[in-house]
Amino acid sequence: MKSTLPLQSQISLITGASSGIGEQFAIQLAQLGSDLILAARRVDRLETLANTLRAQYGVSVTCIPCDLSTPQAAKVLFATATEEGRKITFLVNNAGLGRYGSFIDFPYADHHSTLQVNMLAPTELTYLFVKHMLDHGKKSYLIQVASIAAFQPVGFFSIYSATKGYLRYFSETLAFELRKTPIRVMCLCPGGTYTEFFEHSGQKITRSGAATMMSAQQVVQMSLDALWKGKTVFVPGLLNKLACFLPRLIPRELALDLAFITMNRAVERVSLLPASPASPLNANNHSSDK
Ligand SMILES: NC(=O)c1ccc[n+]([C@@H]2O[C@H](COP(=O)([O-])OP(=O)(O)OC[C@H]3O[C@@H](n4cnc5c(N)ncnc54)[C@H](OP(=O)(O)O)[C@@H]3O)[C@@H](O)[C@H]2O)c1
Repeated sequence: MKSTLPLQSQISLITGASSGIGEQFAIQLAQLGSDLILAARRVDRLETLANTLRAQYGVSVTCIPCDLSTPQAAKVLFATATEEGRKITFLVNNAGLGRYGSFIDFPYADHHSTLQVNMLAPTELTYLFVKHMLDHGKKSYLIQVASIAAFQPVGFFSIYSATKGYLRYFSETLAFELRKTPIRVMCLCPGGTYTEFFEHSGQKITRSGAATMMSAQQVVQMSLDALWKGKTVFVPGLLNKLACFLPRLIPRELALDLAFITMNRAVERVSLLPASPASPLNANNHSSDK
């Protein structure tokens, strides 16, 4: 007898599927039988992943090259994804980036890109796909990938924390607004996860940071379990849960100090950008002040 997988004949769209957490979503949704649409800038990596998933799981995979830092990208991605009457039933707004360092040390264009990719693109994709899902009326899922920084802002990660906080508020309210529709919304808030994120953010994981890291495979598996259980906000891992809960019990200024100390223990800044004189992240700060 032929067995049916839970997401057979469904189509899932994953942004940022070329590495890390997005790539794991692609693998695990394919294992559940879903056809896939994968979006990112590095289309060569998407194609390699697509070939593996087609061969291993027999799913159909479409790759769409897409730079979400450009203002038209969300509209174009939506139009391409829904071509030929395709009905998307699972959207993972996963693409994201961060820049670790003092706000004023980065060119403003970097902040603009982060705002566009982490906040504006997922908002517009959510708008377009929620309407699309309501129109086709099938049971659908939407995951927004935020971070534990959505619970506790971290100094020298100001724009990143702010965008993730936005995603959490947005997801919680959207889940409430859509609770009587066939669409389930969940905000995934991972803590440190082994991916390429750190190479791009200008961070190097220290030995003590490594002790608290999770794998992308674990994060995605736990988050899909949480989604099936109907969670609206999900933080994978006990230490991460504590990191999100404890700051509620102490004054916000103290929480900011502790978040900065914890982050400084977990990662070193490796960016080549010059740090501002005021930045405690600048390793040469003290000697140059003398
Ligand atoms: N790793 C962690 O510790 C951690 C913790 C909490 C939350 N997160 C969140 O998890 C999500 C996935 O990150 P990751 O850890 O898996 O890091 P990653 O391996 O660096 O993956 C980031 C993905 O985002 C895509 N992306 C970046 N800029 C893009 C752009 N302009 N247009 C389209 N796609 C773009 C990248 O694809 P291309 O470069 O090919 O375009 C890549 O596929 C992010 O939202 C991140 O904030 C990560």
